[in-house]
Amino acid sequence: MPIRVTFRPDRQAPPVVESPQPAETHPQGAPPLRKGSGAAPGKNSASFGRSAVQATEKERVNEILSELDELIGLISVKRLIRELQAYVEIQKRRTREKLVAEPLVLHMIFRGNPGTGKTTVARIIGRLFKEMGVLQKGHIIECERADLVGEYIGHTAQKTREQVKKALGGVLFIDEAYSLARGGEKDFGKEAIDALVKAMEDQKDNLILILAGYRQEMEWFLQTNPGLRSRFPIHIDFPDYSLEELLAIGRSMFNQRQYTLTPEAQESLRRILQGLLHLHPYAGNARLIRNLVERTVRKQAVRLFQNASSTREELMEIIAADLDWDEV
Ligand SMILES: Nc1ncnc2c1ncn2[C@@H]1O[C@H](COP(=O)(O)OP(=O)(O)O)[C@@H](O)[C@H]1O
Ligand SMILES: [Mg+2]
Repeated sequence: MPIRVTFRPDRQAPPVVESPQPAETHPQGAPPLRKGSGAAPGKNSASFGRSAVQATEKERVNEILSELDELIGLISVKRLIRELQAYVEIQKRRTREKLVAEPLVLHMIFRGNPGTGKTTVARIIGRLFKEMGVLQKGHIIECERADLVGEYIGHTAQKTREQVKKALGGVLFIDEAYSLARGGEKDFGKEAIDALVKAMEDQKDNLILILAGYRQEMEWFLQTNPGLRSRFPIHIDFPDYSLEELLAIGRSMFNQRQYTLTPEAQESLRRILQGLLHLHPYAGNARLIRNLVERTVRKQAVRLFQNASSTREELMEIIAADLDWDEV
């Protein structure tokens, strides 16, 4: 199944996952990687066993996908992840039928402003691929330049290897990845890039590397490191959220925390967000909303604290004055 926009023909042979791992059936911890191409899931290869395993795998995958669907907006990101899921699943089925399977190269570039959902989606991807048997653990290790780059020769490779080791079986998510290339040839950042590239080769079947950051900076980074581009076949753009999306995100954050907004508070929230979108260069950004929600909850607490007791309704209610916030 062709994955249109995302899988680009690569000039250079990319790292591949030759044999997707069968469904993870161990509730705790992961079993050691099974070698070889026998895709039958070990003891469960009897047809009864396999269908039972598949049913639960399917349920767990669907649960994760519905979490993805619950995210506000991100239409193209959601579509892309469903394409990826279908692609991985079909390659697994083809492998089971001993058909030639496309190599699974799942390293990704996430481009977008802060607060556009990159880390949230990376987390979901890790768990999804774990349930699909591609990753052993599916956890995510988030790091940035300071976690990778050291202070003397050799230190950087060591620090980078440590992060890679922690991420094995899951996702290594590097924020503002271009900062590794900023210092030029003499900078230790280059050493980190080399160590990462090596890890992508060595750990190709049990690590997904995601490089994230601002769109233009990522473009620059890939241009200055042509060898890298071909190793990351999946590029996902995270657009800024619109006013309506930000409002929906805000409402869902309040709901999750069991707060409700009075109609005046809803109006006030809309006005604040409108103002923000005009003022702030990266206002289309859910992190600002989260700050606003948390700050509002604290303001409500201060207001209620002045009374000796509060009703259940009062405890839940956010009024416009709680949202009166001028320094987002
Ligand atoms: N589409 C969305 N729907 C609901 N909440 C979101 C959405 N995108 C981001 N968030 C929330 O906004 C905050 C910042 O998101 P995050 O994934 O850390 O952004 P980034 O990694 O791009 O900076 C998190 O609390 C996250 O749960
Ligand atoms: Mg992030």
